[in-house]
Amino acid sequence: MSDVLVTGGTGNLGRVVCDKLRESGHEVRVLSRRPQPGQSVRGDLRTGEGIPAAVEGIRTVFHLATAPRGDVEATSRLIAAIGPGDTHLVFTSVVGVDQIPLAYYTAKAECERLIETSGLPFTIQRATQFHSLLLRGFHLQRRIPVPMVFAPNCDFQPIDVHDVADRLVEHVDAGPRERVPDIGGPEVRSARSLAQSYLTVSGRHRRVVGVALPGRIYSAFHAGAHLTPDHAHAGLTFEDFLAERF
Ligand SMILES: NC(=O)c1ccc[n+]([C@@H]2O[C@H](COP(=O)([O-])OP(=O)(O)OC[C@H]3O[C@@H](n4cnc5c(N)ncnc54)[C@H](OP(=O)(O)O)[C@@H]3O)[C@@H](O)[C@H]2O)c1
Repeated sequence: MSDVLVTGGTGNLGRVVCDKLRESGHEVRVLSRRPQPGQSVRGDLRTGEGIPAAVEGIRTVFHLATAPRGDVEATSRLIAAIGPGDTHLVFTSVVGVDQIPLAYYTAKAECERLIETSGLPFTIQRATQFHSLLLRGFHLQRRIPVPMVFAPNCDFQPIDVHDVADRLVEHVDAGPRERVPDIGGPEVRSARSLAQSYLTVSGRHRRVVGVALPGRIYSAFHAGAHLTPDHAHAGLTFEDFLAERF
């Protein structure tokens, strides 16, 4: 019998969370639209298919599933399927979602509100951007036909998914604590210096070019609404993460 359901358990963060939950003795059920044999179940939060069966008998739900669109409806469907009771819902959000008017973040903030008003016992953990997200942003530019990498003129505080997963797993035994302190990466760094590290470690010869963008979204990033220097976690740095990949 599983005691923890992980939506998004096949994702970047979710895979690590599932491993750590199992290492700490939990029986884990993974929700996926494409389940693998074993401990995963088929379900789609966009349509609701398979969700009631997935939550059956579960004591803690980690809600890590996400998509560029539809997260509010997905979260609403999950809450309805769990129903009233004492199932602990643990949600992963992003630092600054209530201050940065990016559509994805606005939806995450709305998901937080749904959970806070659901009547369920809950824990909301906000985290800063993952190392893998920054890497993807730089790596995607490797085919642009000029020897440059563009980086916004703002800072980031990237964190490793292993460090976020460690914190999330603690929430199972700690029980519902509503909105808990944010977790951020060990260093606040300019996007340009992170891009330079990527170029150095990957052996690419390009120039880092800082870009300033117009608009309220960029202004919020520039003001550091996505940073949490007071909650810097002494974990893996961006360079530690890159060293494992190149
Ligand atoms: N990436 C970041 O920098 C960052 C920073 C802070 C917080 N977070 C938060 O951390 C969480 C995990 O992010 P991640 O980057 O690890 O995610 P990810 O790698 O993009 O994985 C997305 C997951 O969502 C699942 N999913 C998508 N649509 C679904 C649907 N309709 N029904 C069921 N499952 C669905 C996918 O499962 P299948 O494909 O197997 O169905 C997959 O496991 C999210 O809440 C995200 O907002 C991310």
